[in-house]
Amino acid sequence: MLPRTIDWTGAEIVLVDQTALPTVRMASVRTVDALVDAVSRLVVRGAPALGVAGALGVVLAVRTLPPGEVAAACDRIAAARPTAVNLAVGVARARAALPGGPEAVLAAALAVRDEDVAACHAIGERGADLLTGLCGDRPLRLHTHCNAGALACVEWGTALGVVRSLHARGRVAHVVADETRPLLQGSRITALELAAEGIEHHVVVDGAGPAVIARGLVDAVVVGADRVAANGDVANKIGTYGLALAAARAGIPFVVAAPESTLDPATPTGADIVVEERDPAEVTGGAPAWNPAFDVTPRDLVTAVVTERRTWRP
Ligand code: MRU
Repeated sequence: MLPRTIDWTGAEIVLVDQTALPTVRMASVRTVDALVDAVSRLVVRGAPALGVAGALGVVLAVRTLPPGEVAAACDRIAAARPTAVNLAVGVARARAALPGGPEAVLAAALAVRDEDVAACHAIGERGADLLTGLCGDRPLRLHTHCNAGALACVEWGTALGVVRSLHARGRVAHVVADETRPLLQGSRITALELAAEGIEHHVVVDGAGPAVIARGLVDAVVVGADRVAANGDVANKIGTYGLALAAARAGIPFVVAAPESTLDPATPTGADIVVEERDPAEVTGGAPAWNPAFDVTPRDLVTAVVTERRTWRP
């Protein structure tokens, strides 16, 4: 059983160090500087977990910094990564409680944590219902990308929450997990979660994902999201778009599982989403490289966005 991805001990943030996975190693974060560093290096990652990290970061700011420095610290945390809207949303939620004092800020941050747990379980059930309706009441062969599991949230997960809910109903035959270059969230993290659940799975390299779909080896694709624009365009880990194209071509569902906090009405379309560009050194040992961490799947390729409250067909 995996520990909670991120939590508050009463004095510090404790989290699973995602850079060490599949080795499970815990890390403590006590300062805003350490949190910004952890977010930047993907020690904590995944949109919902980043939302909780952002909210708890405001708690650290209030407890460790002079009052005059809290606002700038909040801005720094929110800007540590640009694409997952949950980070800035989490900061904003806790920041709005500042007038109530440190206890109010802590209560707001813990509410972000607790709401994520509830949201993931609801998404799992709703997504399982949807896929059963779309694909039939039989064990399904599913395909996912990156890690949208317990280790990207507080627990349970969004896309893997759907897989877990289906598995609990005896309705998962097999999962294909893309390796997810360059940081290997699929082979290091998703595979670990699936193994822990006893779910049959195979890792494939990212380039094989669309071909696996074209060969008829999966019944549906289910992924998470970092930001869903107002029109329904979906930003998620680089490589997601190729799966969506392949799913459309094959005529199988492409389902996005994400909490309402990932839906961003302030961003009109996918073209307005800032895609994080990371260090080329993550990709090559010296050759020039582009390293966009996310891509945008246009809404017409999305069968449905499943949140804790609704099933939205953009
Ligand atoms: O760079 P990462 O590992 O933070 O990217 C994570 C993803 O792209 C996830 O699919 C997304 O955040 C949803 S997690 C429930």
